Amino acid sequence: MIEINKLYNCEWQDLILSIPDNSIDLVLTDPPYQSLRKWEELKMNNRMGLGQKGTKTHNPNKFFDTIYNSELPNLLRQIYRVLKPERHAYIMCDFETLFLLHRSIVDERIFPPVGYGGKMLACKPLIWDKIRPGMGYTYRATYEIILMLWKGKKRQLNDYGIQDILRFKRIPPTKSIVPTQKPVELFEVLVKQSTQENELVLDSFMGSGTTAIASIKNNRNWIGSEKSESNFKKALKRIKDETGMKDLFGV
Ligand SMILES: C[S@@+](CC[C@H](N)C(=O)[O-])C[C@H]1O[C@@H](n2cnc3c(N)ncnc32)[C@H](O)[C@@H]1O
Repeated sequence: MIEINKLYNCEWQDLILSIPDNSIDLVLTDPPYQSLRKWEELKMNNRMGLGQKGTKTHNPNKFFDTIYNSELPNLLRQIYRVLKPERHAYIMCDFETLFLLHRSIVDERIFPPVGYGGKMLACKPLIWDKIRPGMGYTYRATYEIILMLWKGKKRQLNDYGIQDILRFKRIPPTKSIVPTQKPVELFEVLVKQSTQENELVLDSFMGSGTTAIASIKNNRNWIGSEKSESNFKKALKRIKDETGMKDLFGV
């Protein structure tokens, strides 16, 4: 029996498959997509490292497991299944993963029939402007994509004044406890836009616990999974330290 306001140390499928249909109010997630591995193939491991070059924390090989692109259609199917009708999902992605996700959504084999007012709609890609640029192997990376989806008919956002470019400084590697940690303020905007108080937010790839913290700070319930035991422990500690919430360990 799964419980809400708990983090589970497991693979994404193990938690989501035990969540009933139509029971989640928002999916907000940041998958470890396969294309992150391109930096390894290009021998640019430093890009994936935690900590700054030349400091003690620098560890260029320390990175989390990634999922395969072939898992993305099933991830979308499960997100669709657990979401209540007229609810939103936000999936952080890069441009390669965005195309794969979008292709899965418009592919009639996955969601027949698809269309406006249909089953799952790729609403729009939002941009997270990180303000502080990252490493400059090509043009210096200053943005990430957040694919916004909705299930069924449109649910109104809580604030139509918010623009589709969200500007929050990225967390420098020296301050993040897991690679690619997202700013809580960014996730708070998404939580507040797409849920009401006491609604339930799911993150299948919790990392350092950012989704849980953004939810708790805004009186939303949450549930999540994290495969890495080390990141799981870091997230439990961080959620407790930043929100005072205890008993977070889902079994
Ligand atoms: C991009 S990070 C999430 C970062 C998070 N948004 C934050 O702000 O800290 C992706 C996380 O997914 C975890 N992960 C990798 N494979 C997984 C799987 N199969 N199931 C669940 N979690 C997984 C990684 O360990 C990593 O912590």
